[in-house]
Amino acid sequence: MPGMTADPAEGARLLRGHIEETASLTSRPFAVNVPVGRTDAGEVLPISEAYIRAVIEARRADAGLERQLAVLTTSAGFPGEFRPLIAGSGLIHMHKVGSTRQALKAEQLGVDVVIASGYEMGGHTHAVPMHTFVLVPNVTEAVSVPVLLSGGARNGRTLAAALCLGAAGVAMGTRFIASEDNADWHPATARAIVEAGEGDDIIFPGVYSPARGLRSAGVDHLMELLHQGATAGELLAYKDAALIRAEEEGDLDSGILPAGQVASGIRDIVSVAQFVPAMAAEAAAVLSQLAATAHAVTAR
Ligand SMILES: Cc1cc2nc3c(=O)[nH]c(=O)nc-3n(C[C@H](O)[C@H](O)[C@H](O)COP(=O)(O)O)c2cc1C
Repeated sequence: MPGMTADPAEGARLLRGHIEETASLTSRPFAVNVPVGRTDAGEVLPISEAYIRAVIEARRADAGLERQLAVLTTSAGFPGEFRPLIAGSGLIHMHKVGSTRQALKAEQLGVDVVIASGYEMGGHTHAVPMHTFVLVPNVTEAVSVPVLLSGGARNGRTLAAALCLGAAGVAMGTRFIASEDNADWHPATARAIVEAGEGDDIIFPGVYSPARGLRSAGVDHLMELLHQGATAGELLAYKDAALIRAEEEGDLDSGILPAGQVASGIRDIVSVAQFVPAMAAEAAAVLSQLAATAHAVTAR
């Protein structure tokens, strides 16, 4: 998704290009994420609408893409008025929420999957802090659609925990920054995740809500600008430049790197193709071992 500041027609064209490039690199299914912002008057931002329509149009125009581009995830705000269009397109619609109230609203409006994301997550988090361990069981008890846990997952043990909380799986962000496959970003970003410890993350103002990233002089300067009364436009321009300094130039000092608290437990740079199946196998082994222990205890 080519950013939220692009001109809508240009953004839609770029997204279509990214979708076609992705399809050319894999025969497996993939998803597109569209953050849904709103104007002060409450209308869905033209760029968010352009992206939703571009995803639906790309599938409509190509039978191969219709098969592969299986999932639309929406985040930030809920695209309620576009729900009939998304439902009619055949896409699996996953929506990210930060509260049980939002999860119930999404279910009521017909989403197929709820992504329940806790406050410790990397990137845009939530104005009302609800941590994953409390949020996810609240949500899985409240809704009947499948739920994915997001925020704090990093290995098989955390996947097993998510399943125990009633989730059907996990959606990770920070773990994949520290991967060999994240070739778009400067290698210093992966090293920064591996080196981060507890307390090295910080909350700063994001576009739609508070955001979480690694502490840096770049975040300190953003907070100074905020306290000096910088306009929303000035803050956005500073943040965009700081994100680029971190992600593309590897400047983790004056730059800003979005990341979750889970960075404190990530100790290696992985290959996604090896890591994901190994993580699933580790979760299965953890659950089998726990089941065997429970069986032995009840058989006594
Ligand atoms: C660098 C970065 C960028 C992200 N960008 C988006 C985004 O554009 N849309 C979105 O829905 N979530 C975004 N997220 C959030 C992730 O999808 C995921 O919900 C979150 O990272 C989960 O928490 P974790 O970091 O503990 O795994 C981003 C996270 C990170 C770390």
